[in-house]
Amino acid sequence: MGGLRIAVLKERAAGETRVAATPETVKKFIGLGASFAVEEGAGSGASISDGDYAAAGADVLSADKVVAGADIVLGVQAPDVADLAGAKPGAWVAATFDPFRESDRIKAYAKAGLEALSMEFMPRITRAQSMDVLSSQSNLAGYKAVLAAADQYGRAFPMMMTAAGTVSAAKAFVMGVGVAGLQAIATARRLGAQVSATDVRSATKEQIQSLGAKPIFVESVAGIEGEGSGGYATEMSEEYQKAQAELVSAHIAKQDIVITTALIPGRDAPRLITDAQIATMRPGSVIFDLAVAQGGNVEGSVADEVVVKHGVSIMGYSNTPAHLAADASALFSRNLFNFLSAFWDKETGKVELDEEIGDAVRLTRGGEVVNERLK
Ligand code: NAI
Repeated sequence: MGGLRIAVLKERAAGETRVAATPETVKKFIGLGASFAVEEGAGSGASISDGDYAAAGADVLSADKVVAGADIVLGVQAPDVADLAGAKPGAWVAATFDPFRESDRIKAYAKAGLEALSMEFMPRITRAQSMDVLSSQSNLAGYKAVLAAADQYGRAFPMMMTAAGTVSAAKAFVMGVGVAGLQAIATARRLGAQVSATDVRSATKEQIQSLGAKPIFVESVAGIEGEGSGGYATEMSEEYQKAQAELVSAHIAKQDIVITTALIPGRDAPRLITDAQIATMRPGSVIFDLAVAQGGNVEGSVADEVVVKHGVSIMGYSNTPAHLAADASALFSRNLFNFLSAFWDKETGKVELDEEIGDAVRLTRGGEVVNERLK
């Protein structure tokens, strides 16, 4: 018997350009004793050819053959169960499952006897940092959001002193300073904007300052002190939301660029900007709503469209990392490799997850939905 068989399908979701393995990770998995199958064309959206995968040692196969005999299937977005026919009984599927929204798919995985491993549920602990796809993808998304907003903006970001006069610096405001927000601050700064930022977690204040941006914080009502559970935010009190809205109203009217990134796990994204607030902004301003696919932080934002309201462009992508497919795939693939290889026993050729990480990410096993957070 050879080692484990790993398969990667071409992503099926519309607009999904990423791929869950690169020639680099294929080689590394083969180095652990696995064999690897990649569906034809799987890397095309990320500028990786079938030949690149073959050169790394993968079998490049058609859709009907690629999962045959697979012990482990890797995905960016979890494939439909129908696409997994032929995988070994109890095969693992490591991918993003959007677990709070895709309960039908998860039930189908349970019914099919597959073991779904949801990369979004990776615990936020130090040793799992290198396995965390939310971080790696958010980081790139924060960068891309600023570039897209800058491109849409009919003015320049940096201050420029020219013979024809001075161009003033853009004022950019980042709402939500997690991984994406921090990268958005850094990117807007690099482009020469004057940057300010806000969050509900007070721990972000110092991070904002250390990136050379100005913190804008609700002081009258307590926010979330320190880091909440796993560093995530929770829903804020009505009192806090009111104070936040007032603060934002005053600040936003003076901004040219606003990037919103606020998310709360398992809930729709919090509404941070109303239409009335947008009306106070200068025409030509741009708002990029990174949470548009999770319900949106901004009233009126529509995924993959530029909506102009009161002269302000409101935009956001349904899948921002997919706009940086090559880098996003490289990081996502390494996250998956770091995850599986940490539990790989080279002697026996088997992978066994430990309790802390296994119980966190495992959604289904033995025909049941087993994850605590889904019960
Ligand atoms: P996220 O994507 O869940 O949310 C983005 C940001 O929005 C967060 O900073 C959140 O506090 C903020 N937010 C939520 N509601 C808001 C509101 N009403 N107004 C303003 N802001 C609001 O968060 P993300 O980026 O995943 O990271 C959160 C924290 O987790 C960070 O401190 C990060 O450093 C930490 N982290 C730790 C990891 C580890 O230890 N392995 C891995 C990744 C992140």
